[in-house]
This record gives sequence, structure tokens and C-alpha cells, in this order.
Amino acid sequence: MFRIAHISDLHLLSLDGARMLDFANKRWIGGLNLLSNRSRHYQSERFEAAIEDMKGQNIDHVLCTGDITNLAFKQEFEFAKSLFEKFSLPPSEVTVLPGNHDAYVKKGAEHFHEIFQEHFVSDDGMAQWPLLRTRGNISIVGLSTSLQTPWFTAYGVVGKEQLTKLDAMLAAIPAGQLKLVALHHPVVGKPAESRIRGLKDREALVEVLQKYEVDVVLHGHEHRSILSFAGKIPVLGVPSGTYSLDKPNRRASYRVLTIEGNKITKVERRFINQAGDYESLAESDSVEGWHKVVVA
Ligand SMILES: [Fe+2]
Ligand SMILES: [Fe+2]
Repeated sequence: MFRIAHISDLHLLSLDGARMLDFANKRWIGGLNLLSNRSRHYQSERFEAAIEDMKGQNIDHVLCTGDITNLAFKQEFEFAKSLFEKFSLPPSEVTVLPGNHDAYVKKGAEHFHEIFQEHFVSDDGMAQWPLLRTRGNISIVGLSTSLQTPWFTAYGVVGKEQLTKLDAMLAAIPAGQLKLVALHHPVVGKPAESRIRGLKDREALVEVLQKYEVDVVLHGHEHRSILSFAGKIPVLGVPSGTYSLDKPNRRASYRVLTIEGNKITKVERRFINQAGDYESLAESDSVEGWHKVVVA
């Protein structure tokens, strides 16, 4: 049995966050607005609570699908890294992908690469995209859709080069492996189609995912629970792991996938209840069950 925890969109902010604004940067006005809103609604303590909760959940691997920071400053990545060190798992078992916020400023990608590198090293020892981490019968593939975008936009792009590598990577995965693909942006439906915050080359990506019959796609970015399908492939969007308001499909949560052999046998969402404790919401135990959830 193997248990994967999927968490996303932490938007971690320390109290130093407001002080660390780089006023030389042209984006500082947008940044200030964003920080004052974010600090109210995205609480770093909730990430620490999730890390604690995971310790009692027999989690073998954590998958974080990006937006770990707000403005992609070096200090934010350093603060985020200090929290990621609280996991009882080594970085090889805590996979982290970048989101659009992690490339908010130009140097974001560089900082992410430097500070979070050990969280996306592949089986072959390389830290590049797409990543491949093989854990028994499970092939975890991670993409980066993160790039600096114009003001007030938050879209993502996989890019031709990464797509070509993904095709070759999926082709080389032996038969019988469970193929799990993770990325920050959604791949289907209205959220993915948005010109402002969707995924530009989603159709080309879905074509590759279907060609190799990927078993499941995990994403973040929407800050709400979304269960959708790319053809037959279930696509699961997890809410933010640190959001403070208690709306059912937005409450701070992480999702747990239980895998036996090469089959997903259980999907649940762990969320913080009104009393501040984590609670489990069984979502389904089968792909057929997810179909029902989506139709309902
Ligand atoms: Fe986000
Ligand atoms: Fe995002």
C-alpha cells in the first residue's frame, strides 16, 4: 500500500513578507495589494497543521502542485523551505512543482530551482522538467507550467520542449505502472480554457496524456475542489492548503490517494473543521465513483 498526499497553493507568507518587498521592482504596487489580501486569507500555520496531521496518516509521498509563494522573492522561498523541512519525510518523498506565483517576478524560477531543487530531482539525478519519480508500481510525473506572465494574468504553458520530453518519458514507462501526472494548472473544463488564468496548450497536453492512458492527473491553481475528466482520465484539483474561509469546496485541505499495487483504491480529502481539527471526507473509492461525483 502506498499513500500519496496532494497539497497545493500554500501562498506562504511570513510576517517578514511585508518587509521583504523589493521596492526596486516594478511590480511592487501589485505586490503590496496582493500581500495585504493574501495575508488575511492564507495562513502559514495551516500548512504546519497539515504537516502535523500527515504524520498520523501513513503518508509515503507528498506532492505539492505549486504556488508555494506569493511574489516569488528569494526570502519567500527560504521561508517556505524552512516549513517544508518540518515534514518527517526526506525531500525525495516531498515533490514540489512551481505555480504561476512562483514565477511572479523574473528571478522566481531561478530561486525555485536553487532552493527547492532537491524536491524535484528525478530518478536519473537530474533536476529538470518533466520530473519522473518511480516508487514501486507508481510513476510520478511532474510538469512545470510556471512562467512570468503579464500583469493581472496567471496562465500557464507546458511548452513544446517539455511536451516532447513528456511524450518520450511516458513512452518509456513499463506497462503495468500506475501513471500519475501532476501540474499546477487545470487541463480541462472552463478553468483550463480561461485566457487569463488557464493552460494555453492544454489540448496538446491532453492528447499526450490520452495517448499513454495516464491513470490520474492532479492539479491546483483553482483553490477549490474540482473533480473532472479528460476523456477517461480523472483530473483532481485540490483546494488551497492554507485558505482560512470555511466554504465546503474551498476549505483548507489536502487530498490522500491510497494506492494498492497499481490501482487507486481510495480517495479522501482531509480538511480542518470548525474546531480546528482535521477531518476526513471520503470522496470515492473508484473511478466509477468519481464519475458519480462529477455528474452529481
Ligand atoms: Fe494559487
Ligand atoms: Fe496559481
